[in-house]
Formats: sequence, structure tokens, C-alpha cells
Amino acid sequence: MLQIDLAGIKLRNFLILASGVVGSDVSMYLRAWENGIGAIVTKTFTIERREGFTTPIITAVRCGYLNAVGLENPGKEGMKPVIEYLKKCGIPTIVSIAGRDVDEFLQLASIAYESNADAVELNLSCPHAKGLGLEIGLDRELTVRIIKRIKDDFDMKVFPKLGLSSNVTEIAKSAEVAGADGVVLINTIRGMKIDIWLAKPVLSNKFGGLSGPAIHPIAVAVVYQAYEHLNIPIIASGGVWDWEDVVEFLMAGAKAVQIGSVLTDKGFEFIRETIENIKNFMNSRGYKSVEELIGVAHE
Ligand SMILES: Cc1cc2nc3c(=O)[nH]c(=O)nc-3n(C[C@H](O)[C@H](O)[C@H](O)COP(=O)(O)O)c2cc1C
Repeated sequence: MLQIDLAGIKLRNFLILASGVVGSDVSMYLRAWENGIGAIVTKTFTIERREGFTTPIITAVRCGYLNAVGLENPGKEGMKPVIEYLKKCGIPTIVSIAGRDVDEFLQLASIAYESNADAVELNLSCPHAKGLGLEIGLDRELTVRIIKRIKDDFDMKVFPKLGLSSNVTEIAKSAEVAGADGVVLINTIRGMKIDIWLAKPVLSNKFGGLSGPAIHPIAVAVVYQAYEHLNIPIIASGGVWDWEDVVEFLMAGAKAVQIGSVLTDKGFEFIRETIENIKNFMNSRGYKSVEELIGVAHE
């Protein structure tokens, strides 16, 4: 009932762990899997090890969180053991990577490919890491070149993760034409919180990425619009806080849905409860498979 074929990757259900939110510890990935997640996206890997920003790197705001972790990760040396371990456990593994140019993306994709990852998610949308992320994803030509080169060199699924922008649908379409197997919409949205008593921004990086319920309606609109222009699967990300939000994404046109910040708030049991609640909803409304839900809000 809940199984999907995501660009050829068979998943037991359409819920995917969003990159980075539970950190990069394999034990966290295993807990998500044990609680029923359909696939894991790893924390974003970069070529060099990154220590991340100094604290504070995350703060709660009304309706969500602001984070500027700074893409803390062990670098390319850390990729192989994580991917191979997850694959040994039978977990569909999507490896998030971020580079400064085409060559860095190719190097990282090559390690993911050799380690038998199911796909790479291209982080083209981190709103707070200078020279990486959003700066790349807003450059349509560069985005296209990165996707084309990875698809030319490796027989592997590629899912670019795009951030909010005025032309996100156009960039997604260009990604599709370049050979992307699916597109992830959206990442966190740049924001800031100021401590009025200290009269300065709360986060050490000043700017952060807003996640959680505040961004959900924005993400739904982006997915809905993209669905009308794309032929490749859309993987939704942004502000899922209860099972209804997941159904909303599916009805807007997403084939799979990533969950992130909610796990920090409600724990890994959220995955299990969401699956149960969606099954009950589908039974009560007569939906026999997920496919029947995808994009129904457009009819
Ligand atoms: C603490 C934290 C770390 C994150 N790290 C990454 C990351 O390394 N790579 C990435 O592509 N997205 C990262 N994200 C963004 C999430 O994957 C997700 O797209 C975003 O939080 C929106 O979904 P949510 O509202 O369900 O959390 C991070 C988000 C948070 C809150």
C-alpha cells in the first residue's frame, strides 16, 4: 500500500529522512530505519572535513527552527564507511553531497558510486555555507553542468535539492532536462533572529536556515507548481509536523516526503505514528495505493 518506486529505487514507504537534521551519526540513521523510515539521506558530505560554525548554531523560533550548522561533516574520507554500513543493513541510502565546483561534485559522486549508494542528493541549496549550496543552485548553468557530468560518468540516480527562489520551477525543469532522476524541493529558507537584549543576531553565523511549520505552506506551493511542469518525481521537504502535512505534500504532487525538524521535536516514534495514521486515512477514504494520492489536488 505504501511502497513506492522512486526513479527505480524500491522503497518500503515514501517517508525519507531529511539530510542533516539528526546529525551524521549512523546510530541515528539506524533508529530512523527501525522506526519505519523508507530511506535515509545522509548529512551532506564535502571534500574537506568541516568543523562547522561555533555555537549557537541552532535556535527555536516561533513555528520552527533557525540553524546554521555550517555543513559540519567528516569530509570525503568519512563517506565510504557510512554508506557501506547502511547498505549492509539493507537501508536505501541517498548520499547528500556539496561541492564548490563541478570537479568537487564529481569526486564526491564517485565515492558514493563506488560505495554502492542508491543515489546522490546534490545539496544546491544550503542557505548559510559560503561558496557552497544556494550560491551554486541559483546558477542554472552550473547546476545543469553538474548534473550532466555526474549522469555521464556514473550509472547512478541524481536528485538535486533546490532552495526557494523566484525561478525554482525553471531551475527544476532545467535539472530534469539535464538528466536528473528526481528533484528535492525545498531546503531551509534564509532567516535571522536578533537577541534584542544583546542587540545582535543569535546565531554565530548571523544568518540561518528556517525549517519547521513556518515553511510548510511555502514548500507545498513550490511542489504544487513544480508538479505541473515536471515529469520526474518530486521529493518534498519542508515543515512536516504531523501526518496530514505528509498527505498534503503527496496531494500537491510529491512522490516521496522528507521529514526533518519534527524528529527533534517529537522523536523517532513520529515516523511509526505517521505511517499508521496515513494507512488509516487511506483506508477510510478508499485509497488503495500511494500512487492514487499523488497530485490529486490538481484534478
Ligand atoms: C540542524 C539541521 C541541519 C541540516 N543539515 C542539512 C544538510 O547537511 N544538508 C541539507 O541538504 N539539508 C540540511 N538541512 C535541511 C533539511 O534537510 C530540510 O531540508 C529542512 O530542515 C526542511 O525540512 P524540515 O522543516 O522538515 O526540517 C538541515 C536542517 C537542520 C534543521
